[in-house]
Amino acid sequence: MNQRVPQTMGQQFGRRSWAEPWKIKMVEPIRLIGQEERTQAAQDAGYNTFLLRSEDVYIDLLTDSGTSAMSDRQWAGIMLGDEAYAGSRNFYHLEEAVRHYYGYRHVVPTHQGRGAEHLISQALIKPGMFIPGNMYFTTTRLHQELAGGTFVDVIIDEAHDPSSEHPFKGDVDLDKLQALIDRVGADKIGYISLAGTVNMAGGQPVSMANVRALRELCDRHGIRIYLDATRMVENCFFIQEREPGYEDKPVAEILREFCDYTDGAWMSAKKDNLVNIGGWLAVNHEDVFDLARNMVVVYEGLHTYGGMAGRDMEALAIGIEESVEDDHVRSRVDQVRYLGHLLIDWGVPIVCPVGGHAVFLDAKRFYPHIPQDRFPAQTLAAELYLDSGVRTMERGIVSAGRDPETGDHRYPALELTRITIPRRVYTQAHMDVVAESVKAVYDARDESRGLEMVYEPKYLRFFQARFEMIRD
Ligand SMILES: Cc1ncc(COP(=O)(O)O)c(C=O)c1O
Repeated sequence: MNQRVPQTMGQQFGRRSWAEPWKIKMVEPIRLIGQEERTQAAQDAGYNTFLLRSEDVYIDLLTDSGTSAMSDRQWAGIMLGDEAYAGSRNFYHLEEAVRHYYGYRHVVPTHQGRGAEHLISQALIKPGMFIPGNMYFTTTRLHQELAGGTFVDVIIDEAHDPSSEHPFKGDVDLDKLQALIDRVGADKIGYISLAGTVNMAGGQPVSMANVRALRELCDRHGIRIYLDATRMVENCFFIQEREPGYEDKPVAEILREFCDYTDGAWMSAKKDNLVNIGGWLAVNHEDVFDLARNMVVVYEGLHTYGGMAGRDMEALAIGIEESVEDDHVRSRVDQVRYLGHLLIDWGVPIVCPVGGHAVFLDAKRFYPHIPQDRFPAQTLAAELYLDSGVRTMERGIVSAGRDPETGDHRYPALELTRITIPRRVYTQAHMDVVAESVKAVYDARDESRGLEMVYEPKYLRFFQARFEMIRD
Protein backbone atom coordinates (compact mmCIF):
# COMPACT_ATOMS: atom_id res chain seq x y z
CA MET A 1 0.00 0.00 0.00
CA ASN A 2 1.21 3.45 -0.86
CA GLN A 3 1.54 5.11 2.58
CA ARG A 4 1.54 8.85 1.99
CA VAL A 5 2.42 11.25 4.77
CA PRO A 6 0.01 14.20 4.78
CA GLN A 7 1.67 17.55 4.23
CA THR A 8 0.69 21.08 5.14
CA MET A 9 0.26 23.51 2.30
CA GLY A 10 3.56 25.22 3.07
CA GLN A 11 5.40 21.89 3.00
CA GLN A 12 3.89 21.05 -0.37
CA PHE A 13 5.38 24.25 -1.76
CA GLY A 14 8.69 23.88 0.12
CA ARG A 15 8.17 26.89 2.38
CA ARG A 16 6.83 27.71 5.82
CA SER A 17 3.03 28.04 5.96
CA TRP A 18 1.43 31.41 6.52
CA ALA A 19 -1.86 32.18 8.24
CA GLU A 20 -4.40 34.97 8.20
CA PRO A 21 -3.61 37.95 10.50
CA TRP A 22 -6.90 37.54 12.42
CA LYS A 23 -8.86 35.04 14.43
CA ILE A 24 -12.59 34.37 14.22
CA LYS A 25 -14.78 35.83 16.97
CA MET A 26 -18.27 35.26 15.58
CA VAL A 27 -19.54 32.69 13.11
CA GLU A 28 -22.49 32.49 10.73
CA PRO A 29 -23.66 28.94 10.00
CA ILE A 30 -23.85 27.86 6.36
CA ARG A 31 -25.24 24.64 4.92
CA LEU A 32 -25.22 22.71 1.69
CA ILE A 33 -28.71 21.89 0.47
CA GLY A 34 -29.28 18.63 -1.45
CA GLN A 35 -28.77 18.04 -5.16
CA GLU A 36 -32.51 18.04 -5.95
CA GLU A 37 -33.08 21.28 -4.06
CA ARG A 38 -30.17 22.90 -5.89
CA THR A 39 -31.61 21.83 -9.23
CA GLN A 40 -34.95 23.39 -8.29
CA ALA A 41 -33.31 26.57 -6.94
CA ALA A 42 -31.24 26.99 -10.13
CA GLN A 43 -34.35 26.58 -12.29
CA ASP A 44 -36.34 29.04 -10.16
CA ALA A 45 -33.49 31.54 -10.54
CA GLY A 46 -33.50 31.24 -14.33
CA TYR A 47 -29.88 29.95 -14.10
CA ASN A 48 -28.79 33.43 -13.04
CA THR A 49 -26.75 33.28 -9.83
CA PHE A 50 -27.89 36.84 -8.96
CA LEU A 51 -31.42 35.48 -8.65
CA LEU A 52 -30.63 32.71 -6.16
CA ARG A 53 -31.68 33.09 -2.54
CA SER A 54 -28.57 33.24 -0.40
CA GLU A 55 -30.05 30.58 1.92
CA ASP A 56 -29.73 28.15 -1.00
CA VAL A 57 -26.03 28.95 -1.42
CA TYR A 58 -23.28 27.04 0.40
CA ILE A 59 -20.07 29.04 -0.27
CA ASP A 60 -20.96 32.45 -1.64
CA LEU A 61 -18.31 33.70 -4.06
CA LEU A 62 -20.65 35.83 -6.16
CA THR A 63 -18.80 38.99 -5.23
CA ASP A 64 -16.37 40.63 -2.84
CA SER A 65 -18.71 43.63 -2.71
CA GLY A 66 -20.17 44.33 0.71
CA THR A 67 -19.42 40.76 1.77
CA SER A 68 -16.29 41.36 3.87
CA ALA A 69 -16.17 40.57 7.58
CA MET A 70 -15.79 43.68 9.69
CA SER A 71 -13.30 43.75 12.56
CA ASP A 72 -14.15 44.12 16.25
CA ARG A 73 -12.90 47.71 15.98
CA GLN A 74 -15.34 48.41 13.15
CA TRP A 75 -18.22 46.88 15.08
CA ALA A 76 -17.26 49.02 18.07
CA GLY A 77 -17.34 51.99 15.68
CA ILE A 78 -20.91 51.10 14.74
CA MET A 79 -21.88 51.87 18.36
CA LEU A 80 -20.37 55.34 18.00
CA GLY A 81 -22.73 56.37 15.21
CA ASP A 82 -23.68 60.03 15.43
CA GLU A 83 -27.00 60.00 13.59
CA ALA A 84 -27.40 63.75 13.38
CA TYR A 85 -28.93 64.75 10.03
CA ALA A 86 -26.19 67.31 9.46
CA GLY A 87 -22.54 67.50 10.46
CA SER A 88 -22.21 64.01 11.97
CA ARG A 89 -18.81 63.59 13.64
CA ASN A 90 -18.46 60.26 11.77
CA PHE A 91 -18.43 62.17 8.49
CA TYR A 92 -15.46 64.23 9.65
CA HIS A 93 -13.68 61.04 10.68
CA LEU A 94 -14.34 59.58 7.22
CA GLU A 95 -13.19 62.77 5.52
CA GLU A 96 -9.98 62.72 7.54
CA ALA A 97 -9.34 59.04 6.67
CA VAL A 98 -9.83 59.60 2.91
CA ARG A 99 -7.62 62.70 2.99
CA HIS A 100 -4.92 60.95 4.96
CA TYR A 101 -4.76 57.62 3.08
CA TYR A 102 -5.81 58.66 -0.45
CA GLY A 103 -4.61 62.25 -0.31
CA TYR A 104 -7.52 64.04 -2.01
CA ARG A 105 -8.70 67.41 -0.77
CA HIS A 106 -12.49 67.19 -0.88
CA VAL A 107 -14.77 64.27 0.04
CA VAL A 108 -18.41 63.66 -0.87
CA PRO A 109 -20.00 60.56 0.73
CA THR A 110 -22.36 58.37 -1.35
CA HIS A 111 -24.47 55.30 -0.64
CA GLN A 112 -22.14 53.07 -2.71
CA GLY A 113 -19.83 53.20 -5.72
CA ARG A 114 -22.41 53.80 -8.43
CA GLY A 115 -23.71 56.84 -6.54
CA ALA A 116 -20.24 58.37 -6.87
CA GLU A 117 -20.02 57.26 -10.54
CA HIS A 118 -23.28 59.07 -11.19
CA LEU A 119 -21.99 62.31 -9.66
CA ILE A 120 -18.64 62.36 -11.45
CA SER A 121 -20.22 61.41 -14.81
CA GLN A 122 -22.87 64.13 -14.55
CA ALA A 123 -20.32 66.70 -13.38
CA LEU A 124 -17.73 66.16 -16.12
CA ILE A 125 -19.35 64.63 -19.20
CA LYS A 126 -21.16 66.66 -21.85
CA PRO A 127 -23.08 64.89 -24.66
CA GLY A 128 -20.71 63.86 -27.45
CA MET A 129 -17.66 63.49 -25.20
CA PHE A 130 -15.36 60.46 -25.06
CA ILE A 131 -14.15 58.81 -21.87
CA PRO A 132 -11.06 56.67 -22.42
CA GLY A 133 -10.33 54.04 -19.80
CA ASN A 134 -8.45 50.85 -18.98
CA MET A 135 -11.36 48.51 -19.82
CA TYR A 136 -14.99 49.16 -19.06
CA PHE A 137 -16.81 48.38 -15.86
CA THR A 138 -20.57 47.70 -16.09
CA THR A 139 -22.01 50.43 -13.84
CA THR A 140 -19.23 52.91 -14.61
CA ARG A 141 -19.76 52.76 -18.37
CA LEU A 142 -23.53 52.93 -18.04
CA HIS A 143 -23.30 56.16 -16.02
CA GLN A 144 -20.89 57.58 -18.60
CA GLU A 145 -23.32 56.67 -21.38
CA LEU A 146 -26.34 58.04 -19.52
CA ALA A 147 -24.47 61.35 -19.25
CA GLY A 148 -24.08 61.37 -23.06
CA GLY A 149 -20.51 60.08 -23.27
CA THR A 150 -18.89 57.21 -25.15
CA PHE A 151 -16.44 54.97 -23.34
CA VAL A 152 -13.30 54.06 -25.33
CA ASP A 153 -11.14 51.12 -24.25
CA VAL A 154 -7.44 52.11 -24.20
CA ILE A 155 -6.04 49.27 -22.10
CA ILE A 156 -2.98 47.38 -23.38
CA ASP A 157 -3.74 44.45 -25.72
CA GLU A 158 -2.39 41.91 -23.22
CA ALA A 159 -5.37 42.63 -20.96
CA HIS A 160 -7.67 40.95 -23.48
CA ASP A 161 -5.52 37.82 -23.59
CA PRO A 162 -6.29 35.55 -20.62
CA SER A 163 -3.03 33.62 -20.99
CA SER A 164 -0.66 36.61 -21.14
CA GLU A 165 1.58 36.73 -18.04
CA HIS A 166 2.18 40.49 -18.30
CA PRO A 167 2.65 41.71 -14.68
CA PHE A 168 0.61 44.90 -15.21
CA LYS A 169 -2.23 43.98 -17.55
CA GLY A 170 -4.21 46.96 -16.25
CA ASP A 171 -1.83 49.48 -17.87
CA VAL A 172 -3.14 52.12 -20.25
CA ASP A 173 -1.77 51.92 -23.80
CA LEU A 174 -0.54 55.49 -24.20
CA ASP A 175 -0.37 55.17 -28.00
CA LYS A 176 -4.05 54.21 -28.16
CA LEU A 177 -4.87 57.18 -25.93
CA GLN A 178 -2.76 59.57 -28.01
CA ALA A 179 -4.45 58.33 -31.18
CA LEU A 180 -7.88 59.05 -29.66
CA ILE A 181 -6.80 62.55 -28.60
CA ASP A 182 -5.45 63.20 -32.13
CA ARG A 183 -8.71 61.97 -33.66
CA VAL A 184 -11.30 63.75 -31.51
CA GLY A 185 -9.34 66.58 -29.83
CA ALA A 186 -8.47 66.95 -26.13
CA ASP A 187 -11.50 69.17 -25.47
CA LYS A 188 -13.77 66.24 -26.36
CA ILE A 189 -12.23 64.01 -23.70
CA GLY A 190 -14.35 64.15 -20.52
CA TYR A 191 -11.61 62.64 -18.36
CA ILE A 192 -9.53 59.49 -18.14
CA SER A 193 -11.41 56.71 -16.36
CA LEU A 194 -8.57 54.80 -14.73
CA ALA A 195 -9.29 51.70 -12.60
CA GLY A 196 -7.03 49.95 -10.10
CA THR A 197 -6.82 46.12 -10.36
CA VAL A 198 -9.07 46.08 -13.40
CA ASN A 199 -12.09 43.97 -12.52
CA MET A 200 -13.21 42.94 -16.00
CA ALA A 201 -9.63 42.05 -17.04
CA GLY A 202 -9.36 39.56 -14.16
CA GLY A 203 -8.25 41.81 -11.29
CA GLN A 204 -5.10 42.99 -13.07
CA PRO A 205 -3.01 45.91 -11.74
CA VAL A 206 -1.74 49.19 -13.17
CA SER A 207 1.95 50.03 -12.65
CA MET A 208 3.24 53.21 -11.06
CA ALA A 209 5.36 53.81 -14.16
CA ASN A 210 2.21 53.75 -16.28
CA VAL A 211 0.22 56.21 -14.17
CA ARG A 212 3.25 58.52 -14.03
CA ALA A 213 3.55 58.49 -17.83
CA LEU A 214 -0.21 58.90 -18.15
CA ARG A 215 -0.06 62.00 -15.95
CA GLU A 216 2.62 63.52 -18.17
CA LEU A 217 0.62 62.86 -21.31
CA CYS A 218 -2.58 64.24 -19.80
CA ASP A 219 -0.78 67.36 -18.51
CA ARG A 220 0.39 68.10 -22.05
CA HIS A 221 -3.25 68.08 -23.20
CA GLY A 222 -4.98 69.52 -20.13
CA ILE A 223 -6.94 66.29 -19.45
CA ARG A 224 -7.92 65.21 -15.96
CA ILE A 225 -7.53 61.69 -14.57
CA TYR A 226 -10.12 60.17 -12.24
CA LEU A 227 -9.48 56.87 -10.54
CA ASP A 228 -11.85 54.03 -9.77
CA ALA A 229 -10.20 53.36 -6.40
CA THR A 230 -12.50 50.44 -5.56
CA ARG A 231 -9.61 47.94 -5.39
CA MET A 232 -6.68 50.34 -5.47
CA VAL A 233 -5.15 49.02 -2.24
CA GLU A 234 -4.85 45.58 -3.82
CA ASN A 235 -3.30 47.22 -6.88
CA CYS A 236 -0.67 48.80 -4.61
CA PHE A 237 0.20 45.40 -3.15
CA PHE A 238 1.04 44.19 -6.68
CA ILE A 239 3.20 47.28 -7.23
CA GLN A 240 5.06 46.47 -4.01
CA GLU A 241 5.55 42.90 -5.16
CA ARG A 242 6.36 43.45 -8.85
CA GLU A 243 7.68 46.92 -9.54
CA PRO A 244 11.37 47.64 -8.92
CA GLY A 245 11.94 50.31 -6.28
CA TYR A 246 8.71 49.59 -4.35
CA GLU A 247 9.61 46.35 -2.58
CA ASP A 248 10.41 48.10 0.72
CA LYS A 249 7.62 50.66 0.64
CA PRO A 250 4.45 50.07 2.68
CA VAL A 251 1.22 49.71 0.73
CA ALA A 252 -0.10 52.90 2.38
CA GLU A 253 2.80 54.92 0.99
CA ILE A 254 2.40 53.44 -2.50
CA LEU A 255 -1.31 54.29 -2.40
CA ARG A 256 -0.59 57.97 -1.65
CA GLU A 257 1.95 58.20 -4.44
CA PHE A 258 -0.39 56.60 -6.99
CA CYS A 259 -3.35 58.79 -6.05
CA ASP A 260 -1.14 61.89 -6.26
CA TYR A 261 -0.91 61.33 -10.02
CA THR A 262 -4.71 61.58 -10.33
CA ASP A 263 -7.23 64.40 -9.84
CA GLY A 264 -9.73 62.46 -7.79
CA ALA A 265 -11.38 59.10 -7.29
CA TRP A 266 -14.69 57.34 -6.88
CA MET A 267 -14.99 54.48 -4.49
CA SER A 268 -17.17 51.49 -3.84
CA ALA A 269 -16.18 51.19 -0.18
CA LYS A 270 -17.83 47.76 -0.15
CA LYS A 271 -14.61 46.24 -1.50
CA ASP A 272 -11.15 47.41 -0.33
CA ASN A 273 -12.58 49.53 2.47
CA LEU A 274 -14.03 46.54 4.33
CA VAL A 275 -17.62 47.65 4.90
CA ASN A 276 -20.97 46.17 3.90
CA ILE A 277 -22.28 49.40 2.39
CA GLY A 278 -20.88 52.81 1.47
CA GLY A 279 -18.94 54.83 -1.05
CA TRP A 280 -17.35 58.18 -1.67
CA LEU A 281 -16.17 60.60 -4.30
CA ALA A 282 -13.01 62.56 -3.57
CA VAL A 283 -11.57 65.30 -5.77
CA ASN A 284 -8.90 67.96 -5.73
CA HIS A 285 -10.51 70.60 -7.93
CA GLU A 286 -12.86 73.07 -6.28
CA ASP A 287 -15.15 73.32 -9.34
CA VAL A 288 -15.84 69.57 -9.48
CA PHE A 289 -16.30 69.46 -5.71
CA ASP A 290 -18.85 72.28 -5.85
CA LEU A 291 -20.89 70.48 -8.51
CA ALA A 292 -20.72 67.08 -6.82
CA ARG A 293 -21.54 68.43 -3.37
CA ASN A 294 -24.53 70.21 -4.82
CA MET A 295 -25.77 67.19 -6.78
CA VAL A 296 -25.34 64.76 -3.87
CA VAL A 297 -28.21 66.45 -2.02
CA VAL A 298 -30.49 65.70 -4.97
CA TYR A 299 -29.63 62.04 -5.46
CA GLU A 300 -28.05 60.64 -2.28
CA GLY A 301 -28.58 62.72 0.86
CA LEU A 302 -26.99 65.67 2.63
CA HIS A 303 -23.32 66.24 1.82
CA THR A 304 -22.31 65.04 5.29
CA TYR A 305 -23.90 61.59 4.96
CA GLY A 306 -24.68 60.95 1.27
CA GLY A 307 -26.94 57.94 1.87
CA MET A 308 -24.99 56.39 4.73
CA ALA A 309 -25.92 56.22 8.40
CA GLY A 310 -23.43 57.82 10.80
CA ARG A 311 -22.48 54.37 12.09
CA ASP A 312 -21.70 53.19 8.56
CA MET A 313 -19.36 56.15 8.05
CA GLU A 314 -17.57 55.31 11.29
CA ALA A 315 -17.06 51.67 10.28
CA LEU A 316 -15.84 52.91 6.91
CA ALA A 317 -13.30 55.33 8.37
CA ILE A 318 -11.86 52.49 10.47
CA GLY A 319 -12.04 50.08 7.52
CA ILE A 320 -9.93 52.43 5.39
CA GLU A 321 -7.22 52.38 8.02
CA GLU A 322 -7.28 48.57 8.31
CA SER A 323 -7.40 48.03 4.58
CA VAL A 324 -3.93 49.46 3.94
CA GLU A 325 -2.15 47.25 6.50
CA ASP A 326 0.43 45.19 4.63
CA ASP A 327 -0.33 41.93 6.48
CA HIS A 328 -4.01 42.22 5.64
CA VAL A 329 -3.54 42.86 1.92
CA ARG A 330 -0.91 40.14 1.57
CA SER A 331 -3.06 37.46 3.18
CA ARG A 332 -6.10 38.57 1.18
CA VAL A 333 -4.33 38.36 -2.19
CA ASP A 334 -2.47 35.17 -1.21
CA GLN A 335 -5.75 33.43 -0.42
CA VAL A 336 -7.00 34.23 -3.91
CA ARG A 337 -3.71 32.97 -5.34
CA TYR A 338 -3.90 29.77 -3.30
CA LEU A 339 -7.12 28.86 -5.09
CA GLY A 340 -5.85 30.06 -8.47
CA HIS A 341 -2.62 28.09 -8.32
CA LEU A 342 -4.42 24.87 -7.39
CA LEU A 343 -6.55 25.26 -10.53
CA ILE A 344 -3.57 26.10 -12.73
CA ASP A 345 -1.75 22.99 -11.47
CA TRP A 346 -4.79 20.86 -12.33
CA GLY A 347 -4.89 22.22 -15.89
CA VAL A 348 -8.09 24.27 -15.49
CA PRO A 349 -7.97 27.35 -17.78
CA ILE A 350 -8.00 30.59 -15.77
CA VAL A 351 -6.88 34.18 -16.35
CA CYS A 352 -3.18 34.57 -15.58
CA PRO A 353 -1.57 35.98 -13.54
CA VAL A 354 -4.10 35.34 -10.75
CA GLY A 355 -5.81 38.65 -9.92
CA GLY A 356 -6.27 40.47 -6.64
CA HIS A 357 -9.86 39.75 -5.70
CA ALA A 358 -10.93 36.72 -7.68
CA VAL A 359 -9.98 33.74 -9.76
CA PHE A 360 -11.45 34.13 -13.25
CA LEU A 361 -12.20 30.92 -15.12
CA ASP A 362 -11.67 31.24 -18.86
CA ALA A 363 -15.00 29.91 -20.10
CA LYS A 364 -13.97 30.04 -23.78
CA ARG A 365 -11.24 27.49 -23.14
CA PHE A 366 -13.29 25.65 -20.51
CA TYR A 367 -16.19 25.10 -22.94
CA PRO A 368 -14.67 25.46 -26.44
CA HIS A 369 -17.76 23.75 -27.90
CA ILE A 370 -20.24 26.35 -26.57
CA PRO A 371 -20.57 29.42 -28.83
CA GLN A 372 -20.42 32.80 -27.08
CA ASP A 373 -24.09 33.55 -27.77
CA ARG A 374 -24.97 30.45 -25.77
CA PHE A 375 -23.32 32.13 -22.77
CA PRO A 376 -20.47 29.80 -21.75
CA ALA A 377 -19.49 31.80 -18.64
CA GLN A 378 -23.09 31.98 -17.44
CA THR A 379 -23.38 28.24 -18.07
CA LEU A 380 -20.27 27.59 -16.01
CA ALA A 381 -21.58 29.64 -13.08
CA ALA A 382 -24.81 27.61 -13.21
CA GLU A 383 -22.96 24.27 -13.38
CA LEU A 384 -20.78 25.16 -10.39
CA TYR A 385 -23.85 25.95 -8.34
CA LEU A 386 -25.50 22.70 -9.39
CA ASP A 387 -22.37 20.73 -8.51
CA SER A 388 -21.60 22.12 -5.06
CA GLY A 389 -23.84 25.04 -4.07
CA VAL A 390 -20.90 27.40 -4.72
CA ARG A 391 -22.09 30.72 -6.15
CA THR A 392 -19.97 32.58 -8.72
CA MET A 393 -20.69 35.25 -11.34
CA GLU A 394 -20.63 35.67 -15.11
CA ARG A 395 -18.25 38.29 -16.52
CA GLY A 396 -18.57 37.86 -20.27
CA ILE A 397 -21.12 38.51 -23.00
CA VAL A 398 -24.07 38.88 -20.60
CA SER A 399 -22.24 41.50 -18.50
CA ALA A 400 -21.02 43.31 -21.63
CA GLY A 401 -24.64 44.02 -22.69
CA ARG A 402 -25.70 45.45 -26.04
CA ASP A 403 -24.19 48.20 -28.16
CA PRO A 404 -26.46 51.25 -27.65
CA GLU A 405 -26.19 52.16 -31.36
CA THR A 406 -26.68 48.81 -33.10
CA GLY A 407 -28.59 46.95 -30.38
CA ASP A 408 -26.43 43.85 -31.00
CA HIS A 409 -24.71 41.85 -28.26
CA ARG A 410 -21.23 43.13 -27.53
CA TYR A 411 -18.85 40.18 -27.91
CA PRO A 412 -16.01 40.73 -25.40
CA ALA A 413 -12.71 38.93 -25.95
CA LEU A 414 -12.88 37.77 -22.35
CA GLU A 415 -15.65 35.32 -21.46
CA LEU A 416 -15.06 34.71 -17.76
CA THR A 417 -16.67 33.19 -14.69
CA ARG A 418 -15.54 35.05 -11.60
CA ILE A 419 -14.89 33.18 -8.36
CA THR A 420 -14.72 36.18 -6.05
CA ILE A 421 -13.29 35.90 -2.58
CA PRO A 422 -14.80 38.09 0.16
CA ARG A 423 -12.22 39.59 2.53
CA ARG A 424 -11.62 37.91 5.92
CA VAL A 425 -14.57 35.52 5.49
CA TYR A 426 -13.61 32.06 4.24
CA THR A 427 -10.81 29.65 5.18
CA GLN A 428 -8.40 27.51 3.20
CA ALA A 429 -10.77 24.54 3.65
CA HIS A 430 -13.49 26.49 1.82
CA MET A 431 -11.03 27.17 -1.00
CA ASP A 432 -10.29 23.43 -1.23
CA VAL A 433 -13.99 22.61 -1.56
CA VAL A 434 -14.35 25.22 -4.30
CA ALA A 435 -11.29 23.97 -6.19
CA GLU A 436 -12.58 20.40 -6.14
CA SER A 437 -15.95 21.54 -7.46
CA VAL A 438 -14.34 23.44 -10.34
CA LYS A 439 -12.34 20.30 -11.16
CA ALA A 440 -15.48 18.13 -11.11
CA VAL A 441 -17.30 20.53 -13.46
CA TYR A 442 -14.22 20.66 -15.70
CA ASP A 443 -14.09 16.87 -15.89
CA ALA A 444 -17.77 16.83 -16.98
CA ARG A 445 -17.38 19.77 -19.40
CA ASP A 446 -18.38 17.87 -22.55
CA GLU A 447 -21.91 17.36 -21.20
CA SER A 448 -22.77 21.09 -21.01
CA ARG A 449 -24.59 22.62 -23.98
CA GLY A 450 -25.05 26.26 -22.96
CA LEU A 451 -28.02 28.48 -22.16
CA GLU A 452 -30.70 30.39 -24.00
CA MET A 453 -31.67 33.86 -22.72
CA VAL A 454 -35.44 34.02 -22.19
CA TYR A 455 -35.75 37.37 -20.38
CA GLU A 456 -33.55 40.43 -20.85
CA PRO A 457 -33.92 43.68 -18.87
CA LYS A 458 -32.92 46.98 -20.47
CA TYR A 459 -30.16 48.08 -18.08
CA LEU A 460 -27.30 46.00 -16.65
CA ARG A 461 -28.95 42.82 -17.88
CA PHE A 462 -26.62 40.46 -16.03
CA PHE A 463 -28.33 41.25 -12.72
CA GLN A 464 -31.81 40.10 -13.72
CA ALA A 465 -31.71 38.19 -17.02
CA ARG A 466 -33.23 34.68 -17.06
CA PHE A 467 -32.08 31.62 -18.98
CA GLU A 468 -33.05 28.09 -19.87
CA MET A 469 -30.68 25.14 -20.21
CA ILE A 470 -30.10 23.88 -23.76
CA ARG A 471 -30.25 20.11 -23.70
CA ASP A 472 -29.75 19.01 -27.33
C1 LIG B 1 -14.46 48.27 -10.31
C2 LIG B 1 -15.80 48.65 -9.77
N1 LIG B 1 -16.21 49.92 -9.89
C3 LIG B 1 -17.41 50.31 -9.44
C4 LIG B 1 -18.29 49.44 -8.84
C5 LIG B 1 -19.66 49.90 -8.42
O1 LIG B 1 -19.77 49.94 -7.05
P1 LIG B 1 -21.12 49.60 -6.25
O2 LIG B 1 -21.46 48.18 -6.48
O3 LIG B 1 -20.74 49.90 -4.82
O4 LIG B 1 -22.18 50.52 -6.73
C6 LIG B 1 -17.89 48.11 -8.68
C7 LIG B 1 -18.82 47.13 -8.05
O5 LIG B 1 -18.85 45.98 -8.28
C8 LIG B 1 -16.62 47.70 -9.16
O6 LIG B 1 -16.21 46.43 -9.05
